Amino acid sequence: MSENKNILKDKFGREHAYLRISLTERCNLRCTYCMPANGVPLSPKSHLMTYEEVYEIAKTFVDHGVTKIRLTGGEPLVRKDIPVILEKLASLPVELSITSNGVIIDRFIDVLKANNIKKINVSLDSLSKDKFTHITRRNEFEKVYNNILLLVKEGFKVKVNAVLIKGFNDDEIIDFIEFTKELPISIRFIEFMPFDGNKWDLSKMVSYKEVIEKANHHFNKNMIERLIDSPNDTSKNYKVKGYLGSFAIISSVTNPFCDSCNRLRLTANGQLKNCLFSATESDLLTNLRAGKPIEPIIQKAVKAKFKVRGGMNTLEKLQQPDLHTKNRSMITIGG
Ligand code: GTP
Ligand code: 5AD
Ligand code: SF4
Repeated sequence: MSENKNILKDKFGREHAYLRISLTERCNLRCTYCMPANGVPLSPKSHLMTYEEVYEIAKTFVDHGVTKIRLTGGEPLVRKDIPVILEKLASLPVELSITSNGVIIDRFIDVLKANNIKKINVSLDSLSKDKFTHITRRNEFEKVYNNILLLVKEGFKVKVNAVLIKGFNDDEIIDFIEFTKELPISIRFIEFMPFDGNKWDLSKMVSYKEVIEKANHHFNKNMIERLIDSPNDTSKNYKVKGYLGSFAIISSVTNPFCDSCNRLRLTANGQLKNCLFSATESDLLTNLRAGKPIEPIIQKAVKAKFKVRGGMNTLEKLQQPDLHTKNRSMITIGG
């Protein structure tokens, strides 16, 4: 096994045991920070992985040491064959989880439970209906809000993702933290990140430091407890003493956590991305379809992984549009 595992070890010694699989480029929301208003060109269906191909590629990764798979999108639940994908992947020896926008997740409670999914991350960027509609360009606030409550009631471990945008929802930081008083969820404030077509600008980003300062100021510093983060966690975790839930910050822009990165990404059209910010991709699907082994491609891609943010190791580089627009739109990466 140790030799096998090595194909997922990069030149900085990071072992990649976590595979994020984007199942579709489609979504039933249109979040402004994720995709351009006029959408993105979609891959023709024949270029997308079938459920058998998803399974085969995933199995290769599992054979080489992957122990955790997270399904993403677009919105993974809009894929028609999602029940069979879940069933196939649940047969592998991995922790299977999903990131969803929550709009239709109430229809999948049984299928999620049947496939041993215990952890679900749901996006919710505002607790105000009007702001939700503005940022997602769709009128689905109640469904998402009620589905978060439903998931908690049904016993899932729920993390809520909120991308903070300056002057838009940063006035809701305390409301979101208050949401954790009676609800055992983790609310994660995410620093807005640059991708192709999302009109990113550093001045729109709300930093880790700003979130903590707001929380400390509102709750009184000694009411806020720094929790121990899980290994390879994207977030820095906190809690207000006595509250059922917790809050966290995902600080990819101001405090990247690449040293402990254990993630690889597979896009819906079968391309391996060695980093969320990678400008290059490795085509697994074409080789799989040609009956060629995909391990050598995986190994080469892993070895080529940059130390920090796909090579954008400084804030200056991250701010150069010619660097970050070489990447895809977020909707086709899956986060
Ligand atoms: P866990 O599996 O629960 O740790 O979830 P997660 O934080 O990896 O996943 P989720 O899909 O909920 O993503 C939350 C945010 O973290 C999104 O904005 C992702 O883009 C970001 N994120 C996830 N993985 C990475 C990563 O490897 N690097 C960076 N920079 N951001 C990431
Ligand atoms: N910056 C930060 N997070 C983003 N997400 C989507 N686009 C961005 C961005 N530009 C988040 C969503 C979703 C997760 C998968 O990725 O909030 O919860
Ligand atoms: Fe869809 Fe999620 Fe992107 Fe929003 S962030 S457009 S919900 S994929």
